[in-house]
Amino acid sequence: MKNVSRSPINLLGRQVSQLIPAFDDVPGMIAMGERDTLIWQLATPYLQTRDNDAHTLYSYGIARQLLRRLPEADEHIVLPAILLHDTGWSTVDEYDAFQAIAPDRDGSYDWAVFQHEKEGARIAREILTEAGIPAADIDEICEIIDGHDTRLTPLSLNDKLVKDADKVWRVSPHGTDVAMPRFGLNRQESLRINSYRAYDVLFTDEAKNMSLALMAVECMDLSPQMMELRENGRLND
Ligand SMILES: [Fe+2]
Ligand SMILES: [Fe+2]
Repeated sequence: MKNVSRSPINLLGRQVSQLIPAFDDVPGMIAMGERDTLIWQLATPYLQTRDNDAHTLYSYGIARQLLRRLPEADEHIVLPAILLHDTGWSTVDEYDAFQAIAPDRDGSYDWAVFQHEKEGARIAREILTEAGIPAADIDEICEIIDGHDTRLTPLSLNDKLVKDADKVWRVSPHGTDVAMPRFGLNRQESLRINSYRAYDVLFTDEAKNMSLALMAVECMDLSPQMMELRENGRLND
């Protein structure tokens, strides 16, 4: 990610920094609050297998934006659930996990998917108790985590948002990146396989819209026309 410091003076010789809006005034800016920072810190030791830590952060960001568009869902449930949903992969051997999620899986490693859900619910209960989350919320969060991949019928709107935030990630640049070496795919193949596996299983229109926007950027990034701009040094990177 580019984060190059620049002169505060623009190309016209004028200062524009006074026009930059405050963080909280911009719709869609995200920073983790106190509760979620604590849950994240307690979750990280269980997220260090493969790219689950970064996957969780991106899914958290997606969940935050879905909550903006679907305010009738409960952020007290959705956000802790998304932060903790994949902690159970820490109990599954890496080879077994890859077998379980491979595009050509034959079902013989489904037990690993069930295990990561069950163990994730167990780990989440410990973490949420330590974080002082109310017992009723803990029960709902753990119920959502236990089945977040395998339960095809969502229990509630909260459950739908967790499932959708998890799946929209597949279409994100990070989701495309991690599938490439994992499954031996080039970038376009990875985008196609991930998007195909994600779009039709999304529950909310908001998540479908988000997925289409991510695909728009990625498809144009991979287009022959953009490749040509890149080869000719016309891209500002
Ligand atoms: Fe999962
Ligand atoms: Fe996930």
